[in-house]
Parts: sequence; C-alpha cells; structure tokens
Amino acid sequence: MKNTSAASAKRLLESAQRLKALMNALPAGIAFSTDETCTYITGNPYLLEHLEMASGDNISLDANIADKKLRHFIGGKEVTGAELPMQRAIAERRQVGPLEIEVEAPSGNRWAHEAIGAPIYDENGKVISAVLVNMDLTEKRKASEAARLERFLEQQRKKIDFIADAAHELRTPLAIIKGNVDLAIRGGLTDKASIEETLRAIDHEVLHLDRLLADLTLLTADRGEFKSKVGAHLIDIGLLVEGIAKRHEGFALKKTVSMCIDTLPDVQVIGDERHLERLFSNIVSNAISYGKPGGSVWISGRIEGDKILIDIKDDGIGISKNALPHIFERFYRAESSRSKDTGGTGLGLAIVKWISEAHGGSVNATSTEGGGSTFTVTFPLAS
Ligand SMILES: Nc1ncnc2c1ncn2[C@@H]1O[C@H](COP(=O)(O)OP(=O)(O)OP(=O)(O)O)[C@@H](O)[C@H]1O
Ligand SMILES: [Mg+2]
Repeated sequence: MKNTSAASAKRLLESAQRLKALMNALPAGIAFSTDETCTYITGNPYLLEHLEMASGDNISLDANIADKKLRHFIGGKEVTGAELPMQRAIAERRQVGPLEIEVEAPSGNRWAHEAIGAPIYDENGKVISAVLVNMDLTEKRKASEAARLERFLEQQRKKIDFIADAAHELRTPLAIIKGNVDLAIRGGLTDKASIEETLRAIDHEVLHLDRLLADLTLLTADRGEFKSKVGAHLIDIGLLVEGIAKRHEGFALKKTVSMCIDTLPDVQVIGDERHLERLFSNIVSNAISYGKPGGSVWISGRIEGDKILIDIKDDGIGISKNALPHIFERFYRAESSRSKDTGGTGLGLAIVKWISEAHGGSVNATSTEGGGSTFTVTFPLAS
C-alpha cells in the first residue's frame, strides 16, 4: 500500500515536471489562475517576457503591481479584466476565443496576440480556475500585410502591361495612316484610283482605331458605372442568339464551316441588347475563325434551375492546356492563332467576360488542342 502511494506520488511529480518543462519551452503564452476569481494569475516564461514581467509576478489585470501596469485592448478599445477570455471562460463556463488582443506592457510596447480562455472543472463539474493560451499575431499580421502589398503591386503591373499593350495596338493603324498621309503630301498620288485606294486604306484604319478605342473604353470603365449606363431590358435571349448565329452564316460559308443552330429555350434575361449581341458575336466569330475548314459550329441552349446556359461548340484548332487559363485576359492571343492571321487584337474574349459578368452571368471554356472548343455562357433568368 505504502509502496503504491509512493509510486503514484513519484508519477505525479514526474508529470508535473514534464508539464513545467513543456510550459518553459513552449513558443506560446500560457497563463493559469489559481482560483475562480482570477485574482492571482501566473504565466510561462514566453508570456512573462512579452508582458515585461518577472517570474512570480501576478499578471492579473487587477493585481496593480505598483510600477508594472498592464493595459489590454480589444478592437482598439481598452477593456477591463472581466472582458478578457480567461475571466469570461469562468463566468460563461465555456471556451472563449480566439480573440485578438493587444497588451500594453509597462514600457508602453504593445504586443498583439490571439487568446483563448478555457475553464478548469473539479470532479463535480464546478469551475475552479481557468487557463489561457496566447499566440503571437505579429508574424501573421506581417504576412497578411505582405500579401496585401503583393496584390497591389500585381494590380499595378497589370495596369502597366495593359497600357503598354494598348499603346502597341494603337500604333499599328496610326503608322499605316501616317504612311498614307506622307505619301499624299509628297505628291505620290497622281491618279484618281490611287487617291481612292489610299483614302480607303485610311478609312479602314480609322474604323479599326475607332473599334479599338471603344473596346478599351468599355474594358477600363468601372463596372458599377457600366451597370448604370447599360439598359436593363427584358431580352428574348434565344431569339437574340439565333439572330447572331444567322448573321454569321455568310462568314461561315466563306470559311467552309457549317452552322448547326438548335432551337433555343424560349426564356428572357435582363440586360442590354447591344452588349449581349456583342458578346455572342465575339464567341461565334471566334468559333468560325478558329474552326476547321469543312468543320462545324454548334449552338445550343439549356435551362438549369434559374439559369440559362448557352453552348457554342466548334471542332477547330482548339486551345492548348497552357493557353486556356489566359484566353479571357486582355490582349491575349494563343501562339497557334497568332500565326493564323485573323487580324484580331485579343480583346474579344475579355469583352465577353466583362459583359457576361456585368449582367450577373459568367463564361467558361473547355477545349483540347486540335480537338475543338466549347464556350458556355450562363445568365440568370428574368423572374
Ligand atoms: N473557338 C476558339 N478556338 C480556338 N482558339 C480560340 C477560340 N476562341 C478564342 N481562341 C483563342 O483565344 C484567343 C483570344 O480570343 P479573343 O477573341 O479574345 O481574341 P482574338 O480573336 O485573337 O482577337 P479579337 O480581339 O479580334 O477577337 C484567340 O487569339 C485564340 O488564340
Ligand atoms: Mg476574337
């Protein structure tokens, strides 16, 4: 009997020593109250160091150690001891936190940490004290600040790229116009036919510039501003898509691509007719341009819940795995289509994405290189 109690006392001592070693080594703050009133609170070395306290100091807020004042702030507001997680855990008989707390140490230095308080019960379920765990927030805050800065720099880099790309695209038509005007000034246009040809070339480039500027204006407009400018009318979306597809039949014929147009669901969406036409026209013309001679373009629609999904599918050159995530970016053109001279600028799909999102919808593409592509546009139905 004596032996057994000596052995259990030894085990108890050993586990107390292990606990002490763990508390001393832990890179997190731990605090205990000696009773349920929290009038005496002690902490491990990590916590004491952050609070600028010495071993044995009572770190209870109400302890009032003459020159060692601690102040606690939650959400920037100074709080009393009763509002801290440990005291609340006892009063509310539950775990409290994690709460973000700033402690002002006696020197005025502030320590930001996250704290969790938990009650400690006796064998009868009565709360007898509490424990507190604190985790440093400085590193976490530094990391989120760095991530925020990185996001900001990324946005700035994108803006610079966009301006550079736009300037590059505008330069080409301007150079052609300048070349033709120079030719006219030098008296190089002697007959009526060459004058007419030059003016036609200039006119073509002016139109191109006009379209480009309209696209750039749309893509740089604030989305909220756009929403207030575009119409919000009830649109028979099926009829609109069928109309667009029919208008592309001539272009498809020229490319020897056949158009297969399903009867689309007879439903309505809320939106702007001109912009929706633009959206579908961009996707359908891509499907034909990047289609396969002798191939087909299929247009179909289906209803899923309170949405309409419209698929535009082709069996053309397809899009590589590497290019697919980028096709909706402004000025992006896949390698395969840059060599295929379609005269595009790479703004078409950026506009598609922009318009669909401004209408509360979305656009998605699936494709395999050499195996064709499917573009799916989703819109909420008008209720
Ligand atoms: N149906 C498709 N099949 C294969 N590639 C496609 C298809 N649609 C788009 N792409 C790829 O995505 C790129 C971006 O398309 P987007 O419509 O934005 O630009 P674009 O057609 O090159 O020029 P534009 O601004 O005149 O439309 C294309 O250059 C092409 O590489
Ligand atoms: Mg295009």
